[in-house]
Amino acid sequence: MIQRPRGTRDFTPEEMETRRYYEAMMRSACVSHGFREVQTPIFEHTELFTTKSGPGIIEEIYAFKDKGDRDICLRPELTASVIRFFVNDLTNYPRPLKMFYYGPCFRYERPQAGRYREFYQFGAEAIGSPTPEMDAEVIGLAASILERTGLKDYRIRVGHIGLLKGMLRTAGVEGDQALPILQKLDKKMYDEARTLMEAAGMSIESAERVIAMTKVTGPIEVLKDFEGEARTYLEEVFEILGHYGFRNLEVDLGVVRGLAYYTGMVFEVDAPKLGAEKQICGGGSYSLSELFGGEKVFSTGFAIGFDRTLLALEKEGVAPKRFRVKAYVVPVNEGTRKKAYEITAMLRREGVSADMDLMRRNMGKNFKYADAAGVENVIIVGEKEIETNSVNVRDMSTGEQILVPIEGLVARLK
Ligand code: HAM
Repeated sequence: MIQRPRGTRDFTPEEMETRRYYEAMMRSACVSHGFREVQTPIFEHTELFTTKSGPGIIEEIYAFKDKGDRDICLRPELTASVIRFFVNDLTNYPRPLKMFYYGPCFRYERPQAGRYREFYQFGAEAIGSPTPEMDAEVIGLAASILERTGLKDYRIRVGHIGLLKGMLRTAGVEGDQALPILQKLDKKMYDEARTLMEAAGMSIESAERVIAMTKVTGPIEVLKDFEGEARTYLEEVFEILGHYGFRNLEVDLGVVRGLAYYTGMVFEVDAPKLGAEKQICGGGSYSLSELFGGEKVFSTGFAIGFDRTLLALEKEGVAPKRFRVKAYVVPVNEGTRKKAYEITAMLRREGVSADMDLMRRNMGKNFKYADAAGVENVIIVGEKEIETNSVNVRDMSTGEQILVPIEGLVARLK
């Protein structure tokens, strides 16, 4: 037997229904916020991601040479693709340009619960200028999407990369020297961060101050001891989100997001019930377009881990209603089969989901099948009934059976 590759999944019809249901919920939240959908290729030039994240990224992605000897990779995320698309073709759109996307991403990870090699992201990017309004709009969209799925237990943690970068800069550490430190702080690897800070010439006291800063969490008031633009900026973002009615937010200066391109506000969402892989969303404000040959433009975006969000919903016991075929049409004998085709086709044209016996089963077996398949109604096409242009409709949940004129069948089933 050939097995599927490690870290990938197949989805059953029931799982696909659930996935499509939540995808539709998320899409509708985006549309009600004025975001419009875009789609980009699943594979890109590897350079797109090495330019954004450095050559180290190659170890973490599916990168290969194609038959034309080009370096190609499967996308590990969509932000770089969306910004490339913007630089290539969308710079004339009015701004802010608010876009969302949904699709598979690939990372060469060690698979475990909630961590896959092929997974799905539902994300958004707003391109325009770096204002608290823009950031609040994007955090608000992430919150609305999660709200619309019905998820209850999650925390939105908002930080500001400028506070940490500022503190490192004051201590004389910037750019390429600061990045590995930020990456260690992002992973809460304090000993390693400490060693790097000391190697960069920082005093023990200032290294400890930086570490202490990443542990600041709580309501917006925890920022009162900090001075400067980043604090007033975050206060404004929180105030706007308050007007929008979002309360499930806290400050967490430990949100560092270990990537060079984030410039200011950064945020993450956790669903604590998920355990180790509990992060269901990550994002922030960044500037990337200049790296891809465009003008410098500020953007804010996020990506929700679609699979993890569904796992979190499952843990909370939230389940969407299962799809059931409305009508299963069964001819009582070969003589009424043609009529059964006509009735099935009529129902389908009218938008009523309808199935027909395709296995030439007898009546008893057809009922057994209808029951097992979870069909709502069985439409029995009998000889006598056809003479009066009627059929018998059996409601499979109540067992009740009534005679219905064919012309009234659609209305009855709808
Ligand atoms: P990220 O934090 O790398 O951010 O990924 C976003 C989310 O994707 C994570 O919070 C997690 O839920 C999910 N995720 C990541 N890797 C896996 C995996 N192997 N299996 C299952 N789920 C996973 C980004 O990708 C940025 N592009 C976000 C962004 C958009 N920043 C600005 N705009």
